[in-house]
Amino acid sequence: MDAPRTIIRRANAGDADAATTVLRRSIIELAVADHRNDPERLESWLANKHPENFRSWLADPDNNVFVAVREGRIVGIGSVMRDGYIGLNYVAPDVRFSGVSRQMLAHLENEAERYGVARVYLTSTATAKRLYLGAGYRLRPGEDSSDPSSLPMEKYLSAQGEPQ
Ligand SMILES: CC(C)(COP(=O)(O)OP(=O)(O)OC[C@H]1O[C@@H](n2cnc3c(N)ncnc32)[C@H](O)[C@@H]1OP(=O)(O)O)[C@@H](O)C(=O)NCCC(=O)NCCS
Repeated sequence: MDAPRTIIRRANAGDADAATTVLRRSIIELAVADHRNDPERLESWLANKHPENFRSWLADPDNNVFVAVREGRIVGIGSVMRDGYIGLNYVAPDVRFSGVSRQMLAHLENEAERYGVARVYLTSTATAKRLYLGAGYRLRPGEDSSDPSSLPMEKYLSAQGEPQ
């Protein structure tokens, strides 16, 4: 059976609790290859993933935060800065591998294109590397990619923008 329809919409302050719950569960339950259940790693990753942080992202005029909603429930969260930096792309564990992160990523790229940037960039987890490679991202040349849990990646939005 096809997955139920997912819509992506701009986040609002009323989403703070549900969206940060998705964000935190996604990190804790899905990105195990990255934090390896090391309490310190996990704590430093989760430290700024609270509802008050979420509200501060919404208040930042350079940031753009979106939620993926399926059957009335928030199942994903993503963000892109006006300079093309994709800061968040997280999916709820129970809908994993049903297209949410891919759909969110496409949405964030379309948004960035509207802001007039030539490329989007992000720091990938080891968990998400395959998703980004499959979506046309590459490691940023000349940058340190020795930590598999912190991979600098980028994608040019149109072939014209790509450096020769
Ligand atoms: C891996 C992850 C990002 C995939 O997102 P998703 O919403 O669950 O899945 P989607 O259906 O949107 O994407 C599917 C893609 O995931 C990748 N994928 C599929 N199975 C996978 C697996 N077992 N392990 C890793 N990646 C896998 C593939 O690239 C797949 O694309 P394909 O079907 O074209 O081959 C997500 O499940 C996850 O673990 N997120 C954890 C949080 C995180 O690390 N976020 C990124 C921050 S930079």
